[in-house]
Amino acid sequence: MAHETVTGDAFENLLREKRQFAPSPEFAAAANVHEGIYAEANADPEAFWAAQARERLTWSKDFSQTLDWSDPPFAKWFVGGEVNAAYNALDRHVENGLGDRVAIHFEGEPGDTETITYADLTERVKRAANAFESLGVAKGDRVAVYLPMIPEAVVTMLACARIGAIHSVVFGGFSSEALRSRIDDAEAKLVVTADGTYRRGKPSPLKPAVDEALAEDGHTVQHVVVVRRNGQDVAWTEGRDLDWSEVMGAASAEHTAVGHDAEHPLFILYTSGTTGKPKGILHTTGGYLTQTAFTHSAVFDLKPETDVYWCTADIGWVTGHSYVAYAPLVNGATQVMYEGTPDSPHQGRWWEIVQKYKVSVLYTAPTAIRTMMKWGSDIPAKYDLSSIRVLGSVGEPINPEAWMWYREVIGGNGGRREERAPIVDTWWQTETGAIMIAPLPGITATKPGSAQVPLPGIAVDVVDEAGQPVPDGHGGFLVIRKPWPAMLRTIWGDPERFKDTYWSRFEGMYFAGDGAKKDDDGDIWLLGRVDDVMNVSGHRLSTTEIESALVSHPWVAEAAVVGAADETTGQAVVAFVILRGEASIPEGEDPAAVLRAHVGHEIGPIAKPRHILVVPELPKTRSGKIMRRLLKDVAEGRDPGDATTLADPTVMHKIAQDLRK
Ligand code: PRX
Repeated sequence: MAHETVTGDAFENLLREKRQFAPSPEFAAAANVHEGIYAEANADPEAFWAAQARERLTWSKDFSQTLDWSDPPFAKWFVGGEVNAAYNALDRHVENGLGDRVAIHFEGEPGDTETITYADLTERVKRAANAFESLGVAKGDRVAVYLPMIPEAVVTMLACARIGAIHSVVFGGFSSEALRSRIDDAEAKLVVTADGTYRRGKPSPLKPAVDEALAEDGHTVQHVVVVRRNGQDVAWTEGRDLDWSEVMGAASAEHTAVGHDAEHPLFILYTSGTTGKPKGILHTTGGYLTQTAFTHSAVFDLKPETDVYWCTADIGWVTGHSYVAYAPLVNGATQVMYEGTPDSPHQGRWWEIVQKYKVSVLYTAPTAIRTMMKWGSDIPAKYDLSSIRVLGSVGEPINPEAWMWYREVIGGNGGRREERAPIVDTWWQTETGAIMIAPLPGITATKPGSAQVPLPGIAVDVVDEAGQPVPDGHGGFLVIRKPWPAMLRTIWGDPERFKDTYWSRFEGMYFAGDGAKKDDDGDIWLLGRVDDVMNVSGHRLSTTEIESALVSHPWVAEAAVVGAADETTGQAVVAFVILRGEASIPEGEDPAAVLRAHVGHEIGPIAKPRHILVVPELPKTRSGKIMRRLLKDVAEGRDPGDATTLADPTVMHKIAQDLRK
């Protein structure tokens, strides 16, 4: 694994940021959690998490041991306990008289809407649970989910959880190839998909990718359930394909949820690592639900009776799992779910939605904030955003300029400047399952650009190469010292890779793959990945995976991919390729365009390189390692730094010359 240095001019500037914004006394007084929570939790984290588990969840059987860490790094939380995720997200609220509370305000891309109460959602999930069982899906079986942002996605996930089936959601922006490899790795029995969705006012297909993925035999899928969303004609495989509404219509609306073991697998979610093959991150039930529910309440100060919460993440990513499908429902919140893009049919769509539903807690990614900034402050200014009282950020470092814009323009509270909404910058990962580092909005004086403090009961640190904690004012690698409830339990089917990837770099600590710095107050600043993982618009992509996709094309001899800094998307994918001498490229064909499309086909449109540069050679060390640092310099328009360790020091010169041509 390549470890890049974690300092740089940009970060030095960042750390000179001295502004701080304390919560208003009114906000602080009414907040869900208060200062004492840190001391309490950190004095006895296990007791703290045990109390959270019992307070936030309804257990069918109480647990007898909080944490079993006798076989690290394989943790067991809430040992002996039994709990049903769907019961906790749904039935119990209905039993408590909250059946009429809105669970989901659905806003479709074409403007169609649906108001789904807790009673409605419970019934739909019960039907889906019966339907999936009638298709032979049993506890422990895997279900692949390839759906757009529509209520059926949440229904499917919760129905799986209800019967103990393990869902594996694959983001709709991944290609049929990527879908197939995930189906195969998890050996999914059922696929739930839709004919398609809408993108910028037009139907956009999904099912053809499923058909393509399953075209070749040798897969484990028995049925494909298809939601009719955009009404387009789709190919139909008799016997395999089933219409969602027919299957649901035939299913009973009665279904009793039973408790599953606290460590029963809840879902697999594939994410990019430093090798070509995505990792199936496995999460289990009790610990995951406890930490997601706690953080949703504490970090967003969520008041289920009065707040309207909107997390803009797609269910294809972990944020859409933890903070759309699970935590808000477990906490009995009312949330908005939106199918489309922020600019359709106009660039004010999000703010129109905030105004319409009186969204009070908004959780989104810096890349979206920067895009809206570019579109101009006059757009959000046309809408009444005074309902907003907490703003969240996730997925990548948020630069202080974007943070300040978010605060002033979106959190400005309808001009009542003294009551600007606090911003919580939340650091976490697919692997951590839930938020790990974030200010608490009623307690922490926030700093633009910093996620600041580990949550109560979470042991985060920054260490040097040797694993020693760095003093305040210094940088290093982000680690987690103690197991946490929502931690990944393993990589599906590959426990050795789980150990190697996360637990071998530093003895006894979880290595997150991020660089970080502690400022003079001890607050944590995240500095981006130190491995071969890129972050493009908050989407996690692997350089190696894209390189493998490129070299799988017959024209390509070698490829190197880097993430180049980009003002809007955080990073952009830039590829350097060497073409094969014998490659016969047809006249008039642009190799870069062909290869870009090829990456789209192999991985998905989100992975298409912004630039593909054809070069005569790649910079390599004497041991044959590609020096990505130098390529990054070129991609970011800098003079490449020290090239003396190259096997052939003239290579960078040749590349630069070539690019000038
Ligand atoms: O580099 C960190 C970055 O996103 C990575 C995790 O990506 P993923 O598993 O896709 O999960 C994203 C949503 C939780 C991290 O290793 N990252 C995430 N949140 C932040 C962040 N970087 C800086 N600040 C954040 N708030």
